[in-house]
Amino acid sequence: MKTSSVSLLLGVCVLLLSAPTVSAVSLYVSPNHQQFFKGDRYVSLSCVDDGQTADGWRVKRTRGVSTEGCSTAADFRRFNNSFCVLDLSVSSGGSFWCENSSGQKSDEVFIAVSEKQLILEIPALPVNTGSNVTLLCKPRNGSAKKSYFFRGKVKLGHGPEGKWILHNVQQSDEGLYSCSTLIHQSPQSRLKVKGQSSDITPALKI
Ligand SMILES: *[C@@H]1O[C@H](CO)[C@@H](O)[C@H](O)[C@H]1NC(C)=O
Ligand SMILES: *[C@@H]1O[C@H](CO)[C@@H](O)[C@H](O)[C@H]1NC(C)=O
Ligand SMILES: *[C@@H]1O[C@H](CO)[C@@H](O)[C@H](O)[C@H]1NC(C)=O
Ligand SMILES: *[C@@H]1O[C@H](CO)[C@@H](O)[C@H](O)[C@H]1NC(C)=O
Repeated sequence: MKTSSVSLLLGVCVLLLSAPTVSAVSLYVSPNHQQFFKGDRYVSLSCVDDGQTADGWRVKRTRGVSTEGCSTAADFRRFNNSFCVLDLSVSSGGSFWCENSSGQKSDEVFIAVSEKQLILEIPALPVNTGSNVTLLCKPRNGSAKKSYFFRGKVKLGHGPEGKWILHNVQQSDEGLYSCSTLIHQSPQSRLKVKGQSSDITPALKI
């Protein structure tokens, strides 16, 4: 390990010890993807705190200019206040988060529901620093084909079976990812990388 990363780690430890306690409630998405095909079945959204359902927190979302809770939205099936299921046969997705009655919010997850032919399967939840993340370029029908992977507008390379692995991900790998085949293109989704100081000091997040 380089000296700079050692001192960075030390810095992070100091931050961890001195950081004020902030809400650890997050939106949990299952299956853990950000892109779905219109006509897929369901994706469930819940508010969790340390692996447990977070009482008093509700799943909310915005679509265009309106904000709604899962108890009112037509494309949601609600099981209780903090556990909702999005019906992908009718939903057009949106931006989702958890919120409590004081207006405290979790991080947002943007879910794209595509009517087109190609999606990128990329984790909805932040991934751990140092992990390997598999991106899958998935056609609506048929099996995965040779696909090109992009971060922003930069081509990362191609995967013969529609698969691309990001090895040992770091904060610098955060960004918007997409994929394409010769004829189709997926929407873009943001990869979030957990850890370092961005998790505990949201004010510093870019
Ligand atoms: C909302 O969450 C914040 C942060 O966890 C907490 O301080 C506040 O008391 C919560 N409000 C209610 C009504 O539970
Ligand atoms: C909400 O419903 C889900 C699924 O049925 C369940 O796992 C969870 O414990 C429930 N939460 C509360 C607060 O009842
Ligand atoms: C990531 O992939 C590399 C190369 O395949 C492997 O050596 C490493 O153990 C993997 N790391 C994790 C955390 O799985
Ligand atoms: C999917 O199937 C439909 C109907 O069979 C066909 O028209 C379409 O081209 C197929 N799409 C892909 C990406 O193969």
